[in-house]
Amino acid sequence: MKRNLTYCLLALLLLLALAACGGSSSNAAGVAENAAPEVAASSGDPAAGEAQFNQLCIACHGAGGAGIENLGKPFTTSDFIKSKTDEELLAFVKTGRPMGDPLNTTGIDMPPKGGNPALTDEQILDIIAYIRTLQP
Ligand code: HEC
Repeated sequence: MKRNLTYCLLALLLLLALAACGGSSSNAAGVAENAAPEVAASSGDPAAGEAQFNQLCIACHGAGGAGIENLGKPFTTSDFIKSKTDEELLAFVKTGRPMGDPLNTTGIDMPPKGGNPALTDEQILDIIAYIRTLQP
């Protein structure tokens, strides 16, 4: 009888160990599932982005991102934009590129968030989605 009890306990422990393994592997799957919507969220709404662009970025980057000499670079021909991911462009727009930056090519400031500190990440991602439509 005592021996049976020991087997029972062993079996129970084994079950618990299996359950723990099962639990962690389903967790890993859960993390993977959660990662997908994050990527999807980074592709913004180009229509909303166009409206934002026309309020703010247009002052320096011109209508349709054609660029304005001595103010802002054209987006239409920008290899920089083409070569960056949405996440990288988001980080870029948030920091800007001051004239003191070694990467600055014009000697003119690109202000952080185009000069509007109230811009949210989501709004900037919308603008980025719009900018992507301007490129050939
Ligand atoms: C006050 C003028 C000004 C405003 C407003 C402005 N920018 Fe800029 N932006 C610049 C300048 C100047 C540069 C080029 C900096 C340099 O010389 O490298 C630039 C560069 C950029 C670049 C990099 C282009 C490249 O090919 O290197 C991106 C992307 C960009 N701006 C996005 C934006 C967005 C998005 C907005 C609106 C939220 C915005 N800018 C608003 C002046 C401005």
